[in-house]
Amino acid sequence: LNYLEPRTKREILECLIKGLQRLEYRGYDSAGVAIDDDAEGKKTSIIRKIGKVKMLEDKIWSLGNLDFYESFNTHVGIAHTRWATHGAPSDLNSHPHRSDETNEFVVVHNGIITNYSDIKQFLLKKGYKFESETDTEVIAKLIKHIHDDHPHLSFRELVEQVIQQLEGAFALVLKSTKYPGQCVATRRGSPLLVGIKSKTTLASDFIPVLFSKDHRSFPILNIPNNSGMKHSESTTEFCPLGENKEVEYYFASDASAVIEHTNRVIFLEDNDVAAVSDGRLTIHRLKRAIDDTTGREIITLKMEIQQIMKGNYSSFMQKEIFEQPDSVINTMRGRVNFEHETLILGGIKDYIPEIKRCRRLLLIGCGTSYHSAIATRQILEELTELPVMVELASDFLDRNTPIFRDDVCFFISQSGETADTLMALRYCKNGGALIVGVTNTVGSSICRESHCGVHINAGPEIGVASTKAYTSQFISLVMFALVMCEDRISIQPRRSEIIQGLKAIPDQIKEVLKLDEKVYEIARTMYQQKSLLVMGRGYNTATCMEGALKIKELTYLHSEGILSGELKHGPLALVDKAMPVIMVVTRDPVYPKCMNALQQVTARDGRPIIICEKGDTETQKHAFYTLEVPHTVDCLQGILTVIPLQLMSYHIAVLRGCNVDCPRNLAKSVTVE
Ligand code: G6P
Repeated sequence: LNYLEPRTKREILECLIKGLQRLEYRGYDSAGVAIDDDAEGKKTSIIRKIGKVKMLEDKIWSLGNLDFYESFNTHVGIAHTRWATHGAPSDLNSHPHRSDETNEFVVVHNGIITNYSDIKQFLLKKGYKFESETDTEVIAKLIKHIHDDHPHLSFRELVEQVIQQLEGAFALVLKSTKYPGQCVATRRGSPLLVGIKSKTTLASDFIPVLFSKDHRSFPILNIPNNSGMKHSESTTEFCPLGENKEVEYYFASDASAVIEHTNRVIFLEDNDVAAVSDGRLTIHRLKRAIDDTTGREIITLKMEIQQIMKGNYSSFMQKEIFEQPDSVINTMRGRVNFEHETLILGGIKDYIPEIKRCRRLLLIGCGTSYHSAIATRQILEELTELPVMVELASDFLDRNTPIFRDDVCFFISQSGETADTLMALRYCKNGGALIVGVTNTVGSSICRESHCGVHINAGPEIGVASTKAYTSQFISLVMFALVMCEDRISIQPRRSEIIQGLKAIPDQIKEVLKLDEKVYEIARTMYQQKSLLVMGRGYNTATCMEGALKIKELTYLHSEGILSGELKHGPLALVDKAMPVIMVVTRDPVYPKCMNALQQVTARDGRPIIICEKGDTETQKHAFYTLEVPHTVDCLQGILTVIPLQLMSYHIAVLRGCNVDCPRNLAKSVTVE
């Protein structure tokens, strides 16, 4: 929404498209925009296109019927990039969705409406015609239906009525020709923030939350025609930003979409309804919950625009792989004192005594974040002497896993928004456990809903395949293990060895990155294969699983991470001359067992590519190709062995012509279950 200075339609569209491009990594099978078509906001144009944002952009600029030079003092535009859940990617299934052919109400939605078919049945009976297969379209039709019956309701009150009918997860932004210059946004389960840009200082850093009075929802299948409904008695509209209307507002599901306009944001909470009308922002809630705070703080983000630009790299993923010497330093900065061998994790320190008394630690996550839990489980068990359970969030929920009040549950998530992880968090919180968030996103849902936590500080990660977040999660969990054992005398030599290992890690990562050329040469020999195995055990188990995940998500090759202890129990049947096998063999306590597996592979004519320690000529004798990484402490070795696999997946993907940053069918942040 723009109140700062007149803008042309072209500038408004450019701003929306740029915002979408910044968010494209979250999902990218189709995109669309809705903008005011006239200066009064009485007409809305919708443009939608299957494919990447670039396709939408090309379509927009080729349109003859838009006057790109028309200028506006106030304008509401909404835009969306979609990752299909209900309905295949197509122009018609793209957002924004509309109430009717005149585009009276339009909506963009992130999430899933689980009861959409009930609502759809109800609206079909009322004569509404649907044009898409999406769950979202019911929202646009439902708001029109309620508005037509209750035209006296404000836009915000209409939205409050609508969300009481919705089940599932959503972040919604709506505009309407009936309410020109107004925009309403709300969330439940999916992330949403408000960016605020002002020429002058804001009157306050705090937006009070207003509680809507007497809000009685009505059952969806029995919506009364005109009576029986008591809407909220109008709460005094309040302008928390003072009388200054020279403010631009941005609603977005991620700060990267707005950061080039403003770094001042409010993270909305579930069931907040944020409305902008006449240049004023208000935040309402339907009813006061017990733990509701009375306001939302305007936060100043530290994110810089350069952090979300590719620079000289060909993809974000490549940039993020090469950022790792710095991102791991940022993870440790201000926390590890290498000279005195002390550590402080500010976000968790007050809870350490409680954690030390716990029954067990549970580490829960999805995808790469889950692998960081596997990578650090052994050192956590060793240094904390506690039982450590590692769980995939979805499976953990499926099993209704028992949770106890003296459990400590870690939720590991780069985005802090992954739906399965968030659900698991709420499940454990209900069970009375202590909740520790390990995330890369300040203000994310997991951050906010945790009792305490560790921010991994890796900087924004845009490539869909996680790389630098993994190594930073790894280090964060190792730091936690070190904090837990600081007063155990017997363990001090081990602790000191690991701290000194951490000190050397950034330079050692730099050294591993020099393998890039060699990895590329090996990738050239393999990129046309159909399948690839990655094998190892012990501290390198996670490297194998993570390496195989990187390869399958980026290159679409079948790839499997195999624990070499299981080799004889099945995977050996796959091994022959033609099957590429990458083996991770490092000089740790399971080295002899790894050598066993290696011999079994070579005995079956396998031609292993071995990731081993520098100078380990003994192991190299058995290799078809070798990738040597520096030696570090056993429990940190996985940080160095995973990087050649990140590079390998990157190069194979490029050689196969795949889109490295946006692999097909995947999304960076999976905010649906
Ligand atoms: C998606 C992403 C993965 C990520 C996983 C968990 O599947 O494509 O890269 O590892 O979600 O995401 P989180 O943000 O919770 O770490």
